[in-house]
Amino acid sequence: MAFYYKLGNIPPKRHTQFRQPDGSLYFEELVSSHGFSGIYSNLYHTYMPTRIKKMVGSTPCANIPLKDRPLLQTHLNTSISEITGKDFLDARKVLLMNNDCTIAICNPSEKKMDYFYKNGEADEMFYIHDGSGYVLSQFGKLRFVKGDYVIIPRTTIYKIEFDDTPNGNNVRMLVVEAFSPIETVKSYRNDLGQLLEHSPYCERDIHPPQELLTEIEKGDFVVKIKKGGYMHEYVYEHSPLDLVGWDGFLYPYTISIHDFEPITGRIHQPPPVHQMFQAHNFVVCSFVPRLFDYHPLAIPAPYNHSNIDSDEVLFYAEGEFMSRKGISRGSFTLHPGGLPHGPHPGTVEKSIGKKETHELAVMVDTFHPLFLTEDALQFVDEKYPMSWTE
Ligand SMILES: [Fe+2]
Repeated sequence: MAFYYKLGNIPPKRHTQFRQPDGSLYFEELVSSHGFSGIYSNLYHTYMPTRIKKMVGSTPCANIPLKDRPLLQTHLNTSISEITGKDFLDARKVLLMNNDCTIAICNPSEKKMDYFYKNGEADEMFYIHDGSGYVLSQFGKLRFVKGDYVIIPRTTIYKIEFDDTPNGNNVRMLVVEAFSPIETVKSYRNDLGQLLEHSPYCERDIHPPQELLTEIEKGDFVVKIKKGGYMHEYVYEHSPLDLVGWDGFLYPYTISIHDFEPITGRIHQPPPVHQMFQAHNFVVCSFVPRLFDYHPLAIPAPYNHSNIDSDEVLFYAEGEFMSRKGISRGSFTLHPGGLPHGPHPGTVEKSIGKKETHELAVMVDTFHPLFLTEDALQFVDEKYPMSWTE
């Protein structure tokens, strides 16, 4: 993360004696990224974090990429998806994947989890399309609402509690797993890590957990850990939320898509101006309501383009996307490298003279090809590849 933060009680100096009320030592745990060269935090546990009561077993959970599909412009009409599973983990349906990331939808029916979860190999990013709630983790209680990105570093033990929605609206989320750290954009930061003046967001827009949760009761606490294509289930004899304090740069946080300040110009600005996050071999961009280009002869619709070394995924969150036809709220398009893509017929002329857009979309651009999964096939719009042909 971009700045130092702490919650609870920590000793004045790291790696020194820090004692509990009964005189015994608290258990320090360093959680670090990039080996010992990336950002890290120091956690102070009431109980030994290495102690487990029981290993229950491991169940396969790997997704299989479909590598024999033809190269096609793809529309996944996930706007039709309703409940995709019971709890927050069960409801995740991975639709697109490669070795760097997976992209899933998650529309759970259950609002609470009776176990903890940890992704042992991937950072996670949720985009909250509908719903609100809390991430309850070792780092504390983190509020999220509609329009938030929630970033959870790998190895964070957490559970999710969604708010009850009296009007019956379902929770809908976009979930990205990254097999490398998800970070703020390097070109937005100065040498010391502070977000620069030209960055479309700043530290004030980034929200760390607000309240530490210290649970010291003993009992049976189930923790499911995802690693290597399996879900490994453990029972701890204490709650994993047993911290009295922590400090550092590594922690879950939220940032709202509505706090992304768009960069606009006289002529069409390229996708990098929309960049929100970076990870190894992919980026995440936010397309937000903004004024259109103001050159007297400007064409607000994008030009045709060939991303020769990237696959471009767009998740249509809100509003009407001016260059696309036949796309609904909550759908995805995948425009793969190797084929040019561009506005639908008629949309270029139609865009001329328009002053602003109210669209909201999340883009994931991967630098290696993405593959559909079996779960994606039910959403494939067979007509989309021919939709530029009048
Ligand atoms: Fe594009």
